[in-house]
Amino acid sequence: MSTAPTPVGRASPRQVLIAGCGYVGTRLGELLAARGDHPVGLRRNPSGLPPSIEPLAVDLLAGDLESRIPPADLVVYAASADRSDESSYRRIYVDAVDALLRVFESREPDQRPSRLVFVSSTAVYGDAEGGWVDENTSPRPESFRGSVMVEGEDRVLGSPIPGVVLRLGGIYGPGRTRIIDLVRAGQARCPGDGPIWSNRIHREDAAAATMHLLDLPEPEDVYLGVDAEPTPLCQVYRWLAEQVGAPEPPKDPAVSRDRSNKRCSSERLQASGFAFRYPSFRDGYGEMLEESGP
Ligand SMILES: NC(=O)c1ccc[n+]([C@@H]2O[C@H](COP(=O)([O-])OP(=O)(O)OC[C@H]3O[C@@H](n4cnc5c(N)ncnc54)[C@H](OP(=O)(O)O)[C@@H]3O)[C@@H](O)[C@H]2O)c1
Repeated sequence: MSTAPTPVGRASPRQVLIAGCGYVGTRLGELLAARGDHPVGLRRNPSGLPPSIEPLAVDLLAGDLESRIPPADLVVYAASADRSDESSYRRIYVDAVDALLRVFESREPDQRPSRLVFVSSTAVYGDAEGGWVDENTSPRPESFRGSVMVEGEDRVLGSPIPGVVLRLGGIYGPGRTRIIDLVRAGQARCPGDGPIWSNRIHREDAAAATMHLLDLPEPEDVYLGVDAEPTPLCQVYRWLAEQVGAPEPPKDPAVSRDRSNKRCSSERLQASGFAFRYPSFRDGYGEMLEESGP
């Protein structure tokens, strides 16, 4: 499908459409290009994409996708909602997914992508009172953020285009330093009534896990993408405070309200052959702190 020259020693490069080429998608595109594939980064404003990713300026919500979507051997859907309200979520995680699937479904079988990886979220799980959840746990979303995402997942898994869902935890990495900033500013607060578990993944691992699922022979439908060490939020705060020399974050009973409490397991992803570069928050944040200096 693609026309780029084939690197020596590799099967022919695949054209990979990254629909929603943002924080994770851009890193994924760089990884794909580095191994000889041809990434196409679709977003409304692709002007800042690195040169290794072919830019494609398309609004997934604007209609008329058929004429704008190029052929693709593989597709990743990693677009995010502009606003945190139900209709914005529905438009990008259900309506635009539907529209993109319809484009590919309407093409001749040999012109369809062989796989679409849908980047979803651990928000599909509700509160598990601090217990473990994995791919066998039924999603019981407690807000539209989870329920709309489940609808998007269902559209992908119900399509004749073979689909895989990757449910990511909180993404952190270079430039995403919200928690470090909170701790440094002395504004981090620990839950007052027992541990609230946090589940996160470094951008590098989120991108690499997505690439792994593009390649994996005979994948399962769903994988959890979180690092190997779910950790009580307070423990993360306190470790960071120690590293940056900030005061120990105090307990605040108000913090536990409104947070779903669960430990997400990525055992299935790891058993499929994926190895984390940053298996714990200490590995990822530690490197970020080293790079940012004192
Ligand atoms: N952030 C987290 O902690 C987290 C946690 C779990 C799951 N996730 C999921 O992981 C995925 C990737 O996250 P991310 O942090 O990489 O997101 P991101 O940086 O916000 O990137 C998403 C990209 O989607 C593009 N986009 C949004 N609306 C679009 C539209 N109508 N048409 C075309 N492109 C559009 C945006 O670019 P333009 O503005 O240029 O269009 C943006 O670059 C998302 O699905 C997100 O929901 C995120």
